[in-house]
Amino acid sequence: MTDASSRMDRVLDLLRDPPAEPDVSAGYLDLLGPSAKPSPSLAQSAMQSAFLPQIYERVWRPIGFNLAKGWPIGPDTATEHAMARDWLGLSHPGYAARPPATVLDVACGPGNVTRALAQGVGRDGLVIGLDASQTMLTRAVADSTGDEIRYVRGDAVDLPFSDASFDAVCCFGALYLFDDPWTAVDGMTRVLKPGGRLVILTSRRPGPLPAARFGTALLRRTTGFTVFGDREITSALSARGFTSIRQRRYPLMQMVGARRP
Ligand SMILES: C[S@@+](CC[C@H](N)C(=O)[O-])C[C@H]1O[C@@H](n2cnc3c(N)ncnc32)[C@H](O)[C@@H]1O
Repeated sequence: MTDASSRMDRVLDLLRDPPAEPDVSAGYLDLLGPSAKPSPSLAQSAMQSAFLPQIYERVWRPIGFNLAKGWPIGPDTATEHAMARDWLGLSHPGYAARPPATVLDVACGPGNVTRALAQGVGRDGLVIGLDASQTMLTRAVADSTGDEIRYVRGDAVDLPFSDASFDAVCCFGALYLFDDPWTAVDGMTRVLKPGGRLVILTSRRPGPLPAARFGTALLRRTTGFTVFGDREITSALSARGFTSIRQRRYPLMQMVGARRP
């Protein structure tokens, strides 16, 4: 067994249906294979390109997300990462470690949030970044050194993990890309342990005005990008039994956190 494959043992233990011959040749566990195609929306296609992962973390994300969060008033990237660790009940770098946590970062892209979460999982903790894009994951593997980080190529809308596998699940900057976001939320709920925490950072419709509704419906039809209303995510979590639901609203984004009963 190669080094890369032996380091995947903990991931394989968490899978609902582990492959007989795991493909870890690219440095991540590939559960989709060469023929798998993501949904062909415009927004999804951009995520599969070779170019975007090269500029995503340093240029695309800070500019796009910070503006959407209301820069300079909204939280910058470091604050957003600290909020994620806090809302997920993880440790903060430099503070006394909490018990080791097993965390799933859904649609991890190039691993930017995965690495921030890894700072809070503690000794012997584990954070798994899952994404469908080979180019994003290649970048994630190249940029991540910590032994507490593993990457899986899989579908966020059909999570490959067993029920109640994770202490915490994070899904930042991706729910709006999924063809079926509510099935994805069902999956995130399923893989959380009772008492486990979920945090989602996603789009926000700027207001209830008909023009905003029309614009976001048009966006969804033309690009596959979904814009969520202020109460859509919180209500969806409440309907699934989540408690301690909290929300921060920014001009074009929202962060929602909750605890699974
Ligand atoms: C904008 S990036 C977000 C990266 C990171 N989470 C962040 O907050 O910056 C969105 C990612 O979602 C992934 N993605 C979209 N649909 C997916 C799906 N159905 N399954 C897995 N990954 C998906 C894309 O490949 C892309 O890497």
